[in-house]
Amino acid sequence: MRNYSLLTLCLLCGGISLFAQNSKIQSSVKNVETKVDSVLAMMTLEEKVGQLVQYNGSWDLTGPASELDGKQKESNLKKGLVGSMLNVLSVDATREAQKMIMENSRMKIPLIFGYDVIHGYKTIFPVPLGETASWDLEAMEKTARISAIESVANGINWTFSPMIDISRDARWGRIMESSGEDTYLTGQVAIAKVKGYQGDDLADQLTIAATAKHFAGYGLAEAGRDYNTVNIGENVLHNVVLPPFKDAADAGVATFMNSFNEIDGIPSTGNKTLQRDILKGAWNWDGFMVSDWGSIPEMINHGVAKDKKQAAEIAINAGSDMDMEGGAYETSLVALVNEGKVDIANINDAVKRVLRVKFMMGLFEDPYRYSDPKVAKNISYKEHEAVARDAAKKSIVLLKNESSLLPIKSSVRSIAVIGPLADDKDSPIGNWRAQGEANSAVSVLEGIKSAAGKNVKINYAQGTTLGVGERSFLMPLEINKTDRSGFSKAIEMAKKSEMVVMVLGEDAFQSGEGRSQASIKLAGLQQELLEAVFKVNKNIALVLLNGRPLEITWSAENIPSIVEAWFLGTESGNAIADVLFGTYNPSGKLPVSFPRSVGQEPLYYNQKNTGRPSNAEHVTYSHYTDVAKDALYPFGFGLSYTTFKYGDIAISSEAMNAEETLTVTIPVTNIGKVAGKEVVQLYLHDLVGTTTRPVKELKGFEMISLQPGETKNVSFTITEKMLQYYTANKKWESEVGDFDVMIGGNSKDLKKITFSLN
Ligand code: NOJ
Repeated sequence: MRNYSLLTLCLLCGGISLFAQNSKIQSSVKNVETKVDSVLAMMTLEEKVGQLVQYNGSWDLTGPASELDGKQKESNLKKGLVGSMLNVLSVDATREAQKMIMENSRMKIPLIFGYDVIHGYKTIFPVPLGETASWDLEAMEKTARISAIESVANGINWTFSPMIDISRDARWGRIMESSGEDTYLTGQVAIAKVKGYQGDDLADQLTIAATAKHFAGYGLAEAGRDYNTVNIGENVLHNVVLPPFKDAADAGVATFMNSFNEIDGIPSTGNKTLQRDILKGAWNWDGFMVSDWGSIPEMINHGVAKDKKQAAEIAINAGSDMDMEGGAYETSLVALVNEGKVDIANINDAVKRVLRVKFMMGLFEDPYRYSDPKVAKNISYKEHEAVARDAAKKSIVLLKNESSLLPIKSSVRSIAVIGPLADDKDSPIGNWRAQGEANSAVSVLEGIKSAAGKNVKINYAQGTTLGVGERSFLMPLEINKTDRSGFSKAIEMAKKSEMVVMVLGEDAFQSGEGRSQASIKLAGLQQELLEAVFKVNKNIALVLLNGRPLEITWSAENIPSIVEAWFLGTESGNAIADVLFGTYNPSGKLPVSFPRSVGQEPLYYNQKNTGRPSNAEHVTYSHYTDVAKDALYPFGFGLSYTTFKYGDIAISSEAMNAEETLTVTIPVTNIGKVAGKEVVQLYLHDLVGTTTRPVKELKGFEMISLQPGETKNVSFTITEKMLQYYTANKKWESEVGDFDVMIGGNSKDLKKITFSLN
């Protein structure tokens, strides 16, 4: 029998019934605080530390495992010395673990179950970098909603998502998990994702807690090498890295995760300025911070702690609340408090944060709320697939379309479908695939076959393989560099077809955690295959499946049509066919710059001007002597099967003061023959500041649909808040002076007008 007596008693002392049914009462902040305090007052130091411990459930290891064996973990669970588990998958398994706590421990504080639900749980949506290319925030919220429901159906009530690390370097494998290089766009995605996962009420059975990660700077690892040192100053930290985290905090994200990297000598896990002063202090955020996997003891490797105990001391004092599989808190915190090295106030603060989230999730009311088999019974995976197809087609970016090869004409009678990824049903699932089944995606070949119908002859050849041997989350991937045995069939198929759809790119396990690459060219024999096919048939539509920007300069110069199709998830092939055959007119825009050469990385549109931006006469200015310095395909770029013409910007006034606003308006006309959608983008440039300012920064966007011949006037309101940045005064403020407003369909081709802030 469940025994809640101790807790009930303590809550009654606070005058509030723990089991109140009214959800409004449950989520009322004041009541939650009273309950949290009441529970905290009853806890021993050991029990408090227990709330700060997270164990892995041994499935799906995502890092080195802790030293404890299953038996010890079980015994600690029963004693109530664990606050959370990760990777426990299924309602039965989470119920079982929860029972250990509820039926054995003194305080009976429910566990919270975390998992990396990054782009879907079972129904897999586009990888985050791809999905961001849709610029469709509503669609992104919807996929998060579905991810939440499928997670709950499997006992999970906490996702380690969204990952909102600004990523400017295509070499970094985890760029696939990010929303790309832009601060504003990433912030908007963060808000949409938090809303999607958490809904309006965390206690709703069909919502899960979200995590803003990795706090902070992880995406700016030197040389794009995962886990590497981050060298950024306050200007980049505050203006580029932190704003999306502030957006997530303001949107009410329940938890944060810190990061493996150091910034300027301080590992994030031990960074008090970031965690205590900024996040919990200045931003007044009241959720809890989980460490990244083992990042507390990793401070020994960083060389700032001599042992686990010192690492625990640094981490808790800096504001890391929960230790993910690090084994540092459970072995050291009690002693550190008793020795006076850790103030009990820091422990209490961390425990309160964990309890607060658990109360908000309704776990004290019903610890088994998220382990309910009924949820799974009500799920329609078919409906989720339809959403996956919709999200996938919106994420596709048309990079080039000369000779109007696309959309494929109804007169075409034969198509060669060639490439190692053409009939790959696994890579489109991408990395960080949660419980997305291996080989479960619709392949491009399958999608094309079902869209083309019986009258079109599809001539398929794999041409070459890409990843060979066993592929898995943790193991290195071996790339085929020698086997050309499939080339001749590919050439034969290309010869006898009117056009070729060539499907190249990356294996799913070329990007993701620990998958940094020094080269971002088409791996293995793909480039050679492409050129061999090109020799016999130039009518090639190149479809790229990949998790990072690739170096595709040769293709950009030679191949008539290029479609960027990322890893689009479960419905990948159908969505790609929708675009290839024109059932859907592509509307995606790049969330990240595609370089001409890997040597340009890190590459991003919102760079600084430098003291030497250009010089027509000699070489002493900021550029490369062997390649242009701009992107091959810039941030925000993406074509449509129609053409949009931008008129001139009109501005409501040439000046404003801090209390006023301005309106800028631009007419956009569809001058092509088919209806289409366009993402109209607003950029600002602060011409003179107390610190150097980026040459342009995205500050707004709007997606419009236009029929052929139709014009829409798109307006943006400029507020003083949009002009603020982290200035030389070390605070967010605007500075009087001139600003350029730029509007267009990508970050390069823009109409401009100037105004002043007085
Ligand atoms: C390490 C990764 O950095 C983090 O993003 C992930 O959530 C954890 N492992 C848990 O799997």
